[in-house]
Amino acid sequence: MGTKKIDPTREIAESAAMQSVSNAVLSVRAVSKSFGSLKAVHDLTLTIDAGACVGLLGPNGAGKTTIISMITGLFPPDAGEIRIREHLVKSDVSPAKKLLGLVPQELALYDELSAWDNLRFFGALYDLAGEQLFAAMHTSLEFVGLADRASDKVRNYSGGMKRRLNLAASLLHDPEILLLDEPTVGVDPQSRNAIFDNIELLRKRGKTIIYTTHYMEEVERLCDRVIIMDHGEVVADNTLGGLKKEVEKQRQLLIEMERPVEENVLLSLCSLPGVVTAKATASRLSVVVDELEPATSAVLEYLARAGCKWIQIHSEEPTLESVFLKLTGNKLRDL
Ligand SMILES: Nc1ncnc2c1ncn2[C@@H]1O[C@H](COP(=O)(O)OP(=O)(O)O)[C@@H](O)[C@H]1O
Ligand SMILES: [Mg+2]
Repeated sequence: MGTKKIDPTREIAESAAMQSVSNAVLSVRAVSKSFGSLKAVHDLTLTIDAGACVGLLGPNGAGKTTIISMITGLFPPDAGEIRIREHLVKSDVSPAKKLLGLVPQELALYDELSAWDNLRFFGALYDLAGEQLFAAMHTSLEFVGLADRASDKVRNYSGGMKRRLNLAASLLHDPEILLLDEPTVGVDPQSRNAIFDNIELLRKRGKTIIYTTHYMEEVERLCDRVIIMDHGEVVADNTLGGLKKEVEKQRQLLIEMERPVEENVLLSLCSLPGVVTAKATASRLSVVVDELEPATSAVLEYLARAGCKWIQIHSEEPTLESVFLKLTGNKLRDL
């Protein structure tokens, strides 16, 4: 009689694979969406595990809001499917929606209503009523630090306070997954910090978070996984460390010049072999090179030839910005 051979490595691998399947709270499979002839999202596939905090980055028009809108069931994909746990997202009555909280890119609030009445309205959309709604409104407002301004009309709120109220509205039904579409854009630094602290706390409480932003320091502080989109497709999907490894050899040269350089000098620097990009702020030049040498020597030789004197130079490690630039040809912020 033959004995069954057990391969412990394979068993562990299989069980890890099964675990990762059952851990998935969101799966997007081969999803496409066009607006007329424009492919906003193209054959996009991704899986997000429970408790993950994922940064979704991409230049303007990359398709981030479109994919987030489809995840929330705002409109259906042209092809492919989206599941929240086992539920297919396909209509307004989908049970998947109860598991999702959305902070939309555009504020969704009624200016003429108080914060309290706004929340009452949004709570009703999630079938919350009576004591349960009252408690949820109270908890959410406390959480975002607006409890003492609850009866003020939203019209009198600052941009930052509106953003915080938007976040409160998304939390009323205590969703498992939070989709945050640029939640800190255009807010004052104090509100931005407050929102950011809120999100960090939600993450610690085990929520699954998908976070769209242009601020890479937020992604570096918050996210364990980064997905970069461009032209409706995923161009990178990795841990922060993994992404930085892709540009391991790149360096940013910071060169203090005697005086500001002319635009044509910048353009010529950009076209030197090994130079990824060159920009200037007043008399400070910032040049990203694909490898320290020979590009640095080429840059310094060119500056000498052009009669531009430098005072100080040093180089820095690559940042998430370098990765973004390499993959999409765009800077993260100046979009
Ligand atoms: N409702 C719409 N009608 C037509 N085009 C749209 C619509 N929504 C988005 N788009 C286009 O789809 C592309 C992706 O947009 P979007 O998902 O908003 O990008 P992102 O959020 O990454 O900036 C853009 O070119 C945008 O102009
Ligand atoms: Mg957007």
